[in-house]
Amino acid sequence: MKLIVAVDNNWAIGSGNELLFRIPEDMKRFKAFTTGNTVVMGYNTLLSFPGSRPLPNRTNIVLCDDPSVNVEGAVMCGSLEALLEELKNYDSDKVFVIGGAMVYRLLLDYCSEAYITKIQSAGEAPDKFFPNLDEDPKWEIAEESEINEHNGTKFKYVTYVKNKNFA
Ligand SMILES: NC(=O)c1ccc[n+]([C@@H]2O[C@H](COP(=O)([O-])OP(=O)(O)OC[C@H]3O[C@@H](n4cnc5c(N)ncnc54)[C@H](OP(=O)(O)O)[C@@H]3O)[C@@H](O)[C@H]2O)c1
Repeated sequence: MKLIVAVDNNWAIGSGNELLFRIPEDMKRFKAFTTGNTVVMGYNTLLSFPGSRPLPNRTNIVLCDDPSVNVEGAVMCGSLEALLEELKNYDSDKVFVIGGAMVYRLLLDYCSEAYITKIQSAGEAPDKFFPNLDEDPKWEIAEESEINEHNGTKFKYVTYVKNKNFA
């Protein structure tokens, strides 16, 4: 399983259940990585999407504690155990964890690769954060793009992989 996330220069990822930045090129990359594959998300992240609807052209798996919540077009899982059972039905190379903060933390140890868009400025009033992988010996950088820019916001794409000792 892999994860994909955009972090700011403090590893912040969200504010008021929204993203901190909207970078069209990054959104296209997210779409290219995940389309045709399976995405795993928390209920708050689902609610942050337009119309609170699942993403098109992907199998959407949503973690939610409340068994009475049903989302058309999504597979609902009520616990980590239920999710891990469900994921046995999918090719793990094609499963992407897409947030948010709670679910990244829950599933980080189950991921082998992390596609991180590192934005080189600070988002406004962040309230959700991703763990700092630069301080985590389990992870190392495998690939790093050059610096890109959108409307003055600089960012780069960094691929982290699980260090062999922890794989
Ligand atoms: N920068 C990025 O790349 C990126 C990507 C995605 C999201 N985000 C941001 O992240 C923020 C949302 O993150 P978040 O931490 O608030 O929420 P989240 O991780 O999206 O969802 C948390 C919810 O998922 C359900 N859940 C989590 N673990 C569960 C478990 N073990 N069993 C059952 N249900 C479980 C619970 O739903 P219930 O309590 O409702 O049952 C929980 O409240 C937003 O600001 C969003 O924009 C950023």
